[in-house]
Amino acid sequence: MASTCFIILAALVISIIDVDVVEPYPEGAPESTCKDMRPQHKVGKNDSNPLIDPMGGISVYMIQASKKENVMPGDKVEVTIMSNAPEEYFEGFQVQARSKDEEVTDVSTIMRYGTFTVNDARVKTLCENGSVTHAVHEHMHNVSFTWTAPSQKLENIVFKATVVKGYSTFYMHLKSDVINENNSCNNVIPSIAIMAFAAIFALNQARSNY
Ligand SMILES: *[C@@H]1O[C@H](CO)[C@@H](O)[C@H](O)[C@H]1NC(C)=O
Ligand SMILES: *[C@@H]1O[C@H](CO)[C@@H](O)[C@H](O)[C@H]1NC(C)=O
Ligand SMILES: *[C@@H]1O[C@H](CO)[C@@H](O)[C@H](O)[C@H]1NC(C)=O
Ligand SMILES: *[C@@H]1O[C@H](CO)[C@@H](O)[C@H](O)[C@H]1NC(C)=O
Repeated sequence: MASTCFIILAALVISIIDVDVVEPYPEGAPESTCKDMRPQHKVGKNDSNPLIDPMGGISVYMIQASKKENVMPGDKVEVTIMSNAPEEYFEGFQVQARSKDEEVTDVSTIMRYGTFTVNDARVKTLCENGSVTHAVHEHMHNVSFTWTAPSQKLENIVFKATVVKGYSTFYMHLKSDVINENNSCNNVIPSIAIMAFAAIFALNQARSNY
């Protein structure tokens, strides 16, 4: 009896894993992609093959935020993914609010911020509302959802997107403009200092030529 249950359970688990690996997520990205936001699409749709790499170069998709300056805790920001041409549709996506400077090579340390709410039947939340993904298998040209800023004031946040056109055609790490950008002293002072040294050096060089 126990072993029958085990076999049924094992078959269930295997069939679930199978669906996640082989299908291009017709009902949205799974929870297993909450950290790396990477579609687990395999070369030749064959489970024993390596993952398909994202497209390089300039994407035809954009991610935009309705507000980017002085976003306070609890503020709501409308976020939109869109394509830049009518013939450029997308079928899938995942979006999260991330640090502008996060180290993408170490996904174990990444953080997502704030929460999403949706009022479009094509969109659903996942990752405890810290992410949104498609809920349907449709060609989309633009889709919007609402992000609520968390209770502590954030700086240097971007909305980061994975946008999927087809099983082997997808873009990763698409970014919105920076929300609450802070490049005050830490960037400005060193660059002023470098320019000042360069000017003094050039002046001294010019003088020593006489
Ligand atoms: C998947 O790929 C492996 C190794 O590349 C190969 O041996 C196997 O036959 C493939 N399976 C299918 C269903 O194509
Ligand atoms: C996600 O949002 C929904 C709708 O606002 C809410 O009912 C649910 O409790 C939230 N889940 C988490 C984990 O916060
Ligand atoms: C969004 O897409 C719909 C139809 O898919 C279109 O009617 C609308 O003009 C688009 N809006 C923008 C801002 O591109
Ligand atoms: C910007 O960042 C610096 C260094 O991280 C911090 O000291 C400063 O308070 C920040 N500026 C504002 C306006 O919060």
